[in-house]
Amino acid sequence: MAQLTLRQAHEADHAPIVAAIQTWWGDTRTPDEARELSLLLPRLFLQHFAATSLILNEVGIGIEVKAEAEDPTPGGATGTTGVTLVTDVTDAGPGTSSAQPTERIAGFLVGFHSPDRPGTAYIHFVGVHPKLRHQGVARQLYERFFAQAAAAGRQEVRAIVSPANKPSIAFHRAMGFEPDAGDYESNGVPVHRDYDGPGHDRISFRRLLAVPPTATGATGATSTATAPG
Ligand SMILES: CC(C)(COP(=O)(O)OP(=O)(O)OC[C@H]1O[C@@H](n2cnc3c(N)ncnc32)[C@H](O)[C@@H]1OP(=O)(O)O)[C@@H](O)C(=O)NCCC(=O)NCCS
Repeated sequence: MAQLTLRQAHEADHAPIVAAIQTWWGDTRTPDEARELSLLLPRLFLQHFAATSLILNEVGIGIEVKAEAEDPTPGGATGTTGVTLVTDVTDAGPGTSSAQPTERIAGFLVGFHSPDRPGTAYIHFVGVHPKLRHQGVARQLYERFFAQAAAAGRQEVRAIVSPANKPSIAFHRAMGFEPDAGDYESNGVPVHRDYDGPGHDRISFRRLLAVPPTATGATGATSTATAPG
């Protein structure tokens, strides 16, 4: 039984996250495509959206986090959230019994609360180490992000997915996301043609969040967001 801990991201996580994107996406991308994909996560995401991004650590699995200088930004690095995810991982591989455990990234979520759309939070990237998949790890990352977004007054979470990434489509549907209307259907899912430029078709997913009870004691209710898709 391995213990997985969830913490807020910080800037030093950028390099291991890029390495993760380049190696963990092998089921849907060639190595060249994965390297190209990693360019969609420049360092600025970990400089400006670390407070709403999450890192899952495991001692024996994942990509090592090398020490970097402290974040100069206030609130950039606050250590663990104190949340412990207990997941049964028996195949932890070499290094599990190391006397000096090294912090490794076994999963991550990079997301933010939209500055322009006050009701919307957005998940830009999520990844789970291949050895830890299908055990509810990404679900826990998403549920933590949903709870933090709802607590901050966000009413919906959005994510954009490539039509070729079938595991991600299935995952988002399992997490309660619904696709916006598109220009055509692919495998029963509406797709926006040229969404991110010529030839870059995308699925636009949205999940509504339950509004937490207010200070006056009103009960939570699902709210319809006003932001356009
Ligand atoms: C997509 C990904 C994040 C899922 O992570 P995971 O930890 O295996 O997912 P979970 O175990 O938390 O699954 C949550 C739900 O999604 C479903 N799901 C996850 N992966 C699935 C797959 N490949 N096919 C079908 N359903 C899947 C699970 O069945 C589960 O539903 P349930 O709770 O109703 O049974 C992981 O496969 C991954 O890192 N892929 C490579 C990176 C990627 O493509 N990221 C998304 C685009 S940014």
